[in-house]
Amino acid sequence: MPIDIEQARRDTPAVSKILHFNNAGAALMPAPVLQAQLDHLQLEAAIGGYEAAAAANDRMEATYDSIARLLNADRAEIALVENATVAWDMAFHSVGFAAGDRILTAEAEYESNHIAFLQVVRRSGAIVDVVPSDAAGELDLEALERMIDRRVKLIAITHVPTNGGLVNPAAEVGRIARAHGILYLLDACQSVGQIPIDVAAIGCDMLSATGRKYLRGPRGTGFLYVRRGVLDRLEPPFLDLQSVTWVAPDRYEMRHDARRFENWERNVAAQLGLGSAVEYALGWGLADIEARVAALADELRRRLTEIPGVSVRDRGRRRCGIVTFTVEGKQPRDIVATLRQRRIHCHSSGPSLVLIVAPERRLPALVRASVHYYNTEEEVTRFAAAIAALA
Ligand SMILES: Cc1ncc(COP(=O)(O)O)c(C=O)c1O
Repeated sequence: MPIDIEQARRDTPAVSKILHFNNAGAALMPAPVLQAQLDHLQLEAAIGGYEAAAAANDRMEATYDSIARLLNADRAEIALVENATVAWDMAFHSVGFAAGDRILTAEAEYESNHIAFLQVVRRSGAIVDVVPSDAAGELDLEALERMIDRRVKLIAITHVPTNGGLVNPAAEVGRIARAHGILYLLDACQSVGQIPIDVAAIGCDMLSATGRKYLRGPRGTGFLYVRRGVLDRLEPPFLDLQSVTWVAPDRYEMRHDARRFENWERNVAAQLGLGSAVEYALGWGLADIEARVAALADELRRRLTEIPGVSVRDRGRRRCGIVTFTVEGKQPRDIVATLRQRRIHCHSSGPSLVLIVAPERRLPALVRASVHYYNTEEEVTRFAAAIAALA
């Protein structure tokens, strides 16, 4: 069923005042998501944080169920953490690398992830090898297959890179990882909430995501999926009284579910908001969300391409809601600042985000306009007109 855009916009009152194409940064929260947090904050103020958490325990537990449903996972495979970076780091540093172990990644891996690779390389003597992209800019599956040998301990890629519209072939990578028995960590930070995600179909062992982007949840929320079959092989880099039980003066026992990757203290209001955001997205349906987001983004690319001096920079066969472009003679950050004064929101990203490919593609800084289903064709037209006026 197509999404009821009028209803989606009624649930997002800010759209009457701003044109928000920064959904890949932080999307606008729908009213129920905001309300879930406000209610809990009020309860905390009224009765105390621990008492409010106890009262909200069932709803907190339901957040795990909602995320499990979103990913086609089991609730025991879900950990709630502060953001996607913490989720990814907890998974990555659980693997444990020794000299000579190889990590295979893609050219457009997220900057923080690549920094973590470099740290592990420096500390352990492991090796990180970057799988080249194919002509369309997606991870080259044949090259990946060729690069595999017995030393490969982990394949870690980003599903939807932060500054480009492409969607990497996550499930095809999963098939290769499974066939060779290699651990597979997927950064789904930009894809969860805009694309249907089925961890069983993708075949990943670990998946990290954030709340505030396409899921339209609160800032400071994130989650990690870890497949049950690999859980007991992974030792989190930090342990606390949430992740283990201290059973004797010299001994602890680690949890057997994904909550071994959590820590104890949490923003309960935000995590309730996250649960509400997941339910809200599931209510529209992820397939319908993807169809609408992709159509709006395609229309935006078409409009921008018509403007003299504007170059759309997105690659990939399958494209999503992230649209990147440059305007001849203009600095992206200046464009973003000028538009913000007019209550039009987008984002700029520098080449450091993609240091591996930027020099080769001579990729300059980019403007990133990221659309969501609650955006409209009229907003696409207005955004393109605003860019044309600057070009
Ligand atoms: C692809 C990708 N991965 C990871 C992150 C980090 O997410 P967070 O800021 O929630 O830690 C981002 C943030 O922009 C991202 O785009």
